[in-house]
Amino acid sequence: MNVITITNLKGGSAKTTSAAYLAHAFAAQGKSVLIIDADPQGSALQWSEAGEWDIPTIALPVKNLHTRLIGIVPLTTDIVIIDTPPLDEQAGIVYSALRAADTIVVTMAPTMMEFGRLPDVWAAIEDTASLRDTAPTVAVLLNRTITNANSTPMFRELITESGHAVLETTIPRREPIAQAFAAPVTELGKYADAALEINKLGASK
Ligand SMILES: Nc1ncnc2c1ncn2[C@@H]1O[C@H](COP(=O)(O)OP(=O)(O)OP(=O)(O)O)[C@@H](O)[C@H]1O
Ligand SMILES: [Mg+2]
Repeated sequence: MNVITITNLKGGSAKTTSAAYLAHAFAAQGKSVLIIDADPQGSALQWSEAGEWDIPTIALPVKNLHTRLIGIVPLTTDIVIIDTPPLDEQAGIVYSALRAADTIVVTMAPTMMEFGRLPDVWAAIEDTASLRDTAPTVAVLLNRTITNANSTPMFRELITESGHAVLETTIPRREPIAQAFAAPVTELGKYADAALEINKLGASK
């Protein structure tokens, strides 16, 4: 089983969107997926219900997620995707979701504002490291990228230079993704490639 926590410091960094699409991308690979909505706003659960997803989605916005998962996740589950609230608003819940994770995906747009928030995310991951037995795999997923814009390679390089991994796959800014909330997820787009890369990260651990 691979527990994947999607996180970032602030709201609006495409955490829920990425959780939704990645969950469908793993399901399309034939994996048994469970979504845990750890955000008290409950957007992932609302989306799942309104979109009539086949993927089971459970709301669990609690600070002891890492101890609760074992009793909740069926043994047949291959992938657990945890959608989190913004770290700066609900640190307790997010710390717990970071402790539970085998893989941490940090979603961000390639902008200076979002880049500037990364040190707080690395610090939170570092804080939880001492509370766990094994280190998680951590990677940035650049999203809302503009095709051929310099910002994508530029921020990839800045993040890589600071010692952190960035997925090769980036998610472009797209109107169908912006309008996808509450609907079924049918077009995976680049999220299919992102899910394949995340599989490889898990395998190379
Ligand atoms: N690739 C994309 N192209 C266009 N719009 C996008 C893309 N990804 C996300 N968005 C839009 O960006 C906004 C923020 O996304 P989302 O709600 O997933 O962020 P979040 O990090 O979960 O926010 P919160 O912290 O409030 O839960 C939404 O309006 C969403 O539709
Ligand atoms: Mg969200």
